[in-house]
Amino acid sequence: MNEYLDLINKNIVTYLDNNLYQHNEPVHEAVPVTNAIKYSIENGGKRLRPTLCLLAGELSGNEDYIDKCMPYCLALEFIHTYSLIHDDLPAMDNDDLRRGKPTVHKQFDECIAILAGDGLLNLAYEVLLDNISKNPTEANIRASKIISSCSGIVSGMVKGQVLDMYQASNTKETLDNINTYKTGALIHASVLSGAVANGLSENEIKSLYEYSIILGKAFQIADDILDVTGSVEELGKNIGSDAKNNKTTYASLFGVEGAKVILEELEAEAIGKLSIFGSRAKKLVELTKYLTSRNN
Ligand code: IPE
Ligand code: IPE
Ligand code: MG
Ligand code: MG
Ligand code: MG
Repeated sequence: MNEYLDLINKNIVTYLDNNLYQHNEPVHEAVPVTNAIKYSIENGGKRLRPTLCLLAGELSGNEDYIDKCMPYCLALEFIHTYSLIHDDLPAMDNDDLRRGKPTVHKQFDECIAILAGDGLLNLAYEVLLDNISKNPTEANIRASKIISSCSGIVSGMVKGQVLDMYQASNTKETLDNINTYKTGALIHASVLSGAVANGLSENEIKSLYEYSIILGKAFQIADDILDVTGSVEELGKNIGSDAKNNKTTYASLFGVEGAKVILEELEAEAIGKLSIFGSRAKKLVELTKYLTSRNN
């Protein structure tokens, strides 16, 4: 289904092997945290964010779009994986299963899970800064800034996680605000970093921005539905986490069927935003359809 999956996985493993290990031995004393980083990131995941980055970059028609995108692919997956490790901690969602295996704090311990997340976050910035020092272009600075702001506390994923942990009310407006930041922001960063790094026009970037905002919303609604209806084997995580934590979601607010109707509307709306690309956006359209009808 995802033609980029192997490429992304290979690059992640190579990066970690080159930077955290030498001849298969960890190069420093923080061995358990290094092992936890490897454990968390090498065991699956859909690699949606790197894939979106590559598909946006591919729209440019640049021959070297993969090389231009790859630092962003790594940084996005490092940040996303750190967010999952911390999201599963007892102080947050308190979940035991992730990507088909015990969560990092269950397999190792809480201290290692916190530090593995911290380690991954910093690796992301090392990759971005390395890329800027090798290719100091305005585009690379802009794309890196998008990733940092979409991950952070002012207008990014961390802000969304705070809003999610302390839900202010159970209205649709509150929920949309939470989802925009906790999930939408990194999805938006994924699409835009690929687009900006490959020099797409401002008009194209604007359409992709609008597309990604809707996609982010749809992606979290699908996640909320799967938390009620999904299969643990296919998802690789336990269901019922939101109910257990008394979280308001689209599924609890509108019912599973109501949420599915909204999801279908958002899918059509998102695909509509890609119309300026015509048939060049075929792969993004396919991915959008898969993401809204997914079962993992
Ligand atoms: C799960 O993300 C967390 C959300 C933001 C909904 P994914 O569903 O992309 O998780 P992986 O990377 O495939 O494990
Ligand atoms: C998490 O949303 C979003 C993140 C920033 C990690 P969820 O808490 O619903 O994600 P899952 O269901 O645990 O993957
Ligand atoms: Mg959560
Ligand atoms: Mg969770
Ligand atoms: Mg969820």
